[in-house]
Amino acid sequence: MSASHSAPTQASPMNVIGRPHPRVDGALKVTGAARYAGDHYLPGMLYAVPVGATIAKGSITAIDAGVAEQMPGVRAILRRGSFPPLGRAELDMSSADTTSILDEFRPPFDDDVVRYYGQYVALAVADSFEQAKAAADAVRVSYAVEIPDVDPALVAEKMTVKSERGDAEAGFAGAAVTIDQRYAMAPETHNPIETHATLAVWEGDALTLHETTQGVINHRNVVARMLGLPAEKVRVISRFLGSGFGNKLWPWTHSPLAAAAARTLGRPVKLVLSRAMTFQSVGHRPRIEQRIRLGATADGKLTSVRHDYVNATSILDSYEENCGEATPHMYSTPNLRVTAGIARRNIGTPTSMRGPGAVPGLYALESGMDELAVALGMDPVELRLRNEPSIDEGLGVPFSSRHFQECLRVGAERFGWSRRDPRVGAMTRDGLTLGWGVAACSWIAERFASNAAVDLRDDGTARVACAIQDIGTGTYTVMAQMVAERLGLPTDRIEVALGDTRLPAGPVSGGSMATASLVAPIHEAVAKAGAALIAAACAAKDGPFSGSRPEELDFVEGKITAKTGNRQAMGFDTVLKALGMPAISGSGSGTGTFMAPGKPTVSKHSFGAHFVEVTWQPETARLRVARTVSVIDAGRILNPLAARNQIEGSVVMGIGMALFEETHYDARNGAPVNASLADYVVATHADAPAMDVHFLEYPDTSLNALGARGVGEIGLAGTAAAITNAVYHATGVRVRELPLKLEHLM
Ligand code: MOS
Repeated sequence: MSASHSAPTQASPMNVIGRPHPRVDGALKVTGAARYAGDHYLPGMLYAVPVGATIAKGSITAIDAGVAEQMPGVRAILRRGSFPPLGRAELDMSSADTTSILDEFRPPFDDDVVRYYGQYVALAVADSFEQAKAAADAVRVSYAVEIPDVDPALVAEKMTVKSERGDAEAGFAGAAVTIDQRYAMAPETHNPIETHATLAVWEGDALTLHETTQGVINHRNVVARMLGLPAEKVRVISRFLGSGFGNKLWPWTHSPLAAAAARTLGRPVKLVLSRAMTFQSVGHRPRIEQRIRLGATADGKLTSVRHDYVNATSILDSYEENCGEATPHMYSTPNLRVTAGIARRNIGTPTSMRGPGAVPGLYALESGMDELAVALGMDPVELRLRNEPSIDEGLGVPFSSRHFQECLRVGAERFGWSRRDPRVGAMTRDGLTLGWGVAACSWIAERFASNAAVDLRDDGTARVACAIQDIGTGTYTVMAQMVAERLGLPTDRIEVALGDTRLPAGPVSGGSMATASLVAPIHEAVAKAGAALIAAACAAKDGPFSGSRPEELDFVEGKITAKTGNRQAMGFDTVLKALGMPAISGSGSGTGTFMAPGKPTVSKHSFGAHFVEVTWQPETARLRVARTVSVIDAGRILNPLAARNQIEGSVVMGIGMALFEETHYDARNGAPVNASLADYVVATHADAPAMDVHFLEYPDTSLNALGARGVGEIGLAGTAAAITNAVYHATGVRVRELPLKLEHLM
């Protein structure tokens, strides 16, 4: 694997921002010292195992727990009526402190109706995990069974217009060249290696949850509402996550269930979901069907873009996959219409999965663009270059920073695209047929409201704290970098505290927004700590700055300096020691831009281009993604090592999306049948191609002073389309249903 990195724009004194920085939490993770939610053990702790419905539609007529309750170590078989009904959390997105968001609203055990396979109908609690599992298996549930609807063919209840300009129908009808195609994607299930886990501990009327969550504050607020507690009575701790990909963004029903069980039984209760339950009850990316209609002039200028899509959702909730997010701004076209709908199925509630919306949407749009290029007899890079918009034509506002054409040009150069023979199957190497494909990517660049606190200590170290999470993406490291740069210290002098609701309220780790959200509050907290130190130093009767006035002094790179004169600067540790103060603190806060009310004045997105080479061996039906080049325009890259890692991981996940990942639901009982890592195929190291990741590095200060956007999700956008476009180039077969299967090619 290779990677490169354009010259950093402004090297900081310590060269800590913009330099490849290994994870500050890396050693804890590889030595096993990092404790994940399921790694906590408490005296008297009980284990809970849910009993999931074995039907997907119908109602519970009886629960016979007689045998289970008599089994060794069993404390209770909880079910509806075993504890007071849980409340329903209300949606709240008004502030970092009060956020309350979830996708499955129905509290567990709320009624006897079953709406999806695996819906929790009882909870076995016992002294050991094995006893709880055996008891859960021994619970006999009787149902009035109805025929579930898990039909993959989606028809929307109604279609809603998401974006419209000009007359898309007329633009299409009058076009010299058109394409009209449908693209379908199988349901995908998030498979973080760490499955969901909750350890619920009550002390009096206060609850602590050791939890796997991408949002401790949000989780606290949702669970508090469901349990009828004030938020300050709930503490949520999530210091390390074995990733999430979105299925840990919002709380799922097992967590309040564990809390209710612990309250009912008066003992700590641990509940760890099995891999199979991960496929049933904690979200997934639903099946999506899209139709793309493109019209163009003979010289490749778009005259019409139409994008219509429908996603499956559950019976009670209305999750929408926002596939049209990138469509209005990706290319210039006078006429455009984007519509969306949902279709309800007896399947658990879907949720955000890495790059929700734009990722599946760009699979369809970028497949359509490739088909249009073929229809026009035009190079697909050239087609995209020709349709570059000068502003976001969907919002009618300028882009904060868009360098998509440069992504295409640099990518083409690095890949060797000029050597491409456009004829299908015309390129070979070592007896293999080569296919070369390209696709664009785009992802929102926004920030959430967040707070942070910084302590400066007399031993020359500092601590930065925020109730944000590190979902494996490098948040510990980037927080340390941000403070280190401000204080002129190496990162090993910075302690990072996160993943605990007792810390200043931070956002969910989602939407590739964590880094951008942290800059303003951390910078302000450092500045406030410095100002507090200056004030204390000036006020001291006997100290290095006694008699000075605060306005004569500055706090720069961790040192107090005089604004005029050549007095020597003095480090914060020296000043603190001289003042006899062990530490001094500052706090900061930053506003959010995501879903902020009012019309935005700029369009904030990251962009990129993926170039893919596949090799195809028709004699053995062997298809491989051999190499990729990804050029990403995501603002300034604060940690190229972590950023490259995110793009590489996304590209590998895109191989899974294109070739492997598919959740199968049994039409008879609605069960996800391939609910294991043996049967649900994800891309592995052995599938990973040679990946070249390149960042353009144009700082975008519309979001924060460092010019950083985010890189968690953009790499997945476009990857599947680049792969299937490459497959078309190799084989002449246009596959419009993901995942692509070898039988499509034979
Ligand atoms: Mo990501 S789907 O925002 O966790």
